Amino acid sequence: MIKVGIIGVGTVGTSVVNILKDNADVISARAGQDIVVKSGVVKNLSKDRGIDITLTDNVDDILNDPEIDIVVELMGGVEEPFEIVKRALKSGKAVVTANKALLAYHRYELQSLANDIAFEYEASVAGGIPIINALRDGLSANHIESIMGIMNGTCNYMLTKMANEGVSYDAILKEAQELGYAESDPTFDVGGFDAAHKLLILASIAYGIDAKPEDILIEGIENVTSDDIAFAKEFGYAIKLLGIAKKDGNEVELRVHACLISKDKMIAKIDGVMNGISVVGDKVGETLYYGPGAGGDATASAVVANIIDIARSGKSRPMLGFDKPLEGKLTLKATQD
Ligand code: NDP
Ligand code: HSE
Repeated sequence: MIKVGIIGVGTVGTSVVNILKDNADVISARAGQDIVVKSGVVKNLSKDRGIDITLTDNVDDILNDPEIDIVVELMGGVEEPFEIVKRALKSGKAVVTANKALLAYHRYELQSLANDIAFEYEASVAGGIPIINALRDGLSANHIESIMGIMNGTCNYMLTKMANEGVSYDAILKEAQELGYAESDPTFDVGGFDAAHKLLILASIAYGIDAKPEDILIEGIENVTSDDIAFAKEFGYAIKLLGIAKKDGNEVELRVHACLISKDKMIAKIDGVMNGISVVGDKVGETLYYGPGAGGDATASAVVANIIDIARSGKSRPMLGFDKPLEGKLTLKATQD
């Protein structure tokens, strides 16, 4: 039996607990053993979460518990989870996280610290879409020429509703927060930073690029108005916030900004909280990945997949792009505005 401790039992953490319980039959069959959540850490112990696990407000209760095999970090933030994940890995516990902000800053340090200990983060990019798995495994025979797509569910939800229902920016942002799509500080979503965090993770896997958010062009959707969307629509375009990575010789350009996309393109038709990412490999050509990019159950689906994988294999999978860049000569290209 594998025992899990969850640090942060909010939108995603609660769904992880529920999925492990609701789908225990198929999960234990696939993992080859039962997986149980032993305890969870929260800030507010008096909040009713509708789940039946032991809760504590002390992270040490999980990190110092010798029975816990896998620590699942779902609290958000950067430096606090960084310390917690380091402690977990140093004590030999496997770690699963959905925290793209943490990975945008510390992914290489954590990957190198993890070494042979499993450290997985499928849910950190595009929620329920197994894009990391695809890039890391399915496309590993290719040089990746480009990665481009909708990587933030909150922004896509907002842009879609502004286009189709004429709802105000503030009202839809509030709705996205209530639905559990937005970050605890939604500036990360609407400012384009969350999409940038995800782009940096994908660029690490595809190109071994070790850049920080400050190194790349990031624009959000705060200045996109209902009028902009209406004009775009009139001329046959949709406005989408895209994360874009393009290889150009020995350089890779990374940028996040709103784009006008012709309505006949597939990506223009992706609505609501859905994400859609195109990855072009030199041998395979274009591949497309589509699915729910945010929300408790969709995200937890990817978190639990990592837990099952660790339970099944018991070890870390080598992360080529991280520990030894696949194409050592690739560097970050300066972006022109
Ligand atoms: P929530 O805000 O819903 O949950 C965060 C949880 O962490 C809460 O249970 C909170 O406690 C707890 N927590 C926060 N700070 C502390 C602390 N200092 N000590 C103890 N507990 C703490 O966030 P989400 O579930 O939405 O997101 C979790 C992570 O998953 C984030 O990194 C996010 O970026 C990522 N993610 C989220 C997605 C989504 O769709 N929501 C999709 C993909 C990734 P309390 O409940 O008591 O406040
Ligand atoms: N806030 C993020 C989004 C959650 O809306 O895409 C999923 O990473």
